[in-house]
Amino acid sequence: MPPAREQLLEKVKGVDGLLCTLTERVDAELMDAAGPQLKVISSMSVGVDHVDVPAATARGIPVGNTPGVLTDATADMAFALLLSAARRVVEGEKYIRAGKWKTWHPQLLLGADLAGSTLGIIGFGRIGEAVAKRAQGFDMRVIFHDPTATPAFGAQPVDLDTLLHESDFVSLHIPLTPNTKHLVNADFLAKMKPNAILINTARGGVVDQAALYDALKSNQIFAAALDVTDPEPLPMDSPLLELENCLIVPHLGSASQRTRDLMSQLAAENLLAGLKGERLPNCVNPEVFLSPP
Ligand code: GLV
Repeated sequence: MPPAREQLLEKVKGVDGLLCTLTERVDAELMDAAGPQLKVISSMSVGVDHVDVPAATARGIPVGNTPGVLTDATADMAFALLLSAARRVVEGEKYIRAGKWKTWHPQLLLGADLAGSTLGIIGFGRIGEAVAKRAQGFDMRVIFHDPTATPAFGAQPVDLDTLLHESDFVSLHIPLTPNTKHLVNADFLAKMKPNAILINTARGGVVDQAALYDALKSNQIFAAALDVTDPEPLPMDSPLLELENCLIVPHLGSASQRTRDLMSQLAAENLLAGLKGERLPNCVNPEVFLSPP
């Protein structure tokens, strides 16, 4: 289990470097509890929404993360969820274990085809692109929404409304920021096709879960497949767990042995560089090296 907040605030006193994961909230209070000697914060994650980066920058502390090494693993998970939700793999598995499998039936657990369908990718960075690359091999049409990205792997840029109106699958690949919090709300879901499947391997906070519950319960969209929730872990009384058309896994996007090894290594390299006062191999606030406070 991650350390309790009080324990963290106590143990952090006097440290020169902080190596954390996404389970720790690294805010101004924690940085101040560490003390003015704190030289570096290194997170073993690509997302840094759990770190108050402006607070670190204001204190001249570089923040390291682990991009690149987890791109393929996370894109694989997005695709695993896409396929599982489309072809109702987990529902089928539960069906057998519940003793319900009596015969083959032409209409048993019918799902969706990938070939010829449209995949809409929101956020076309490294992971979004890697998902597009996989979709090409499945003969999907790929469109994306990302005002700052350039097209790749045959994917066409579109505005968000067009993406929602045309996509059979919508996959989220944006960071959680104040601008993306609850991007997926009732209005967003209402613009999706009734057969659409939502895939989230980004951050739980990007989705308004109450709105998603309503959309799934009323079959306004076909299904959702979530690697991330808000909060994590998802409480056992979450209404999402009542729904057959909501597939949820416990934040496993980068969880392959090799990827986690590479993430650990990169996080350690970031930490060591920061302790030596050198530039981090991967730094989200490189401006700290230009203008010391
Ligand atoms: C995982 O979610 C990460 O940000 O690395």
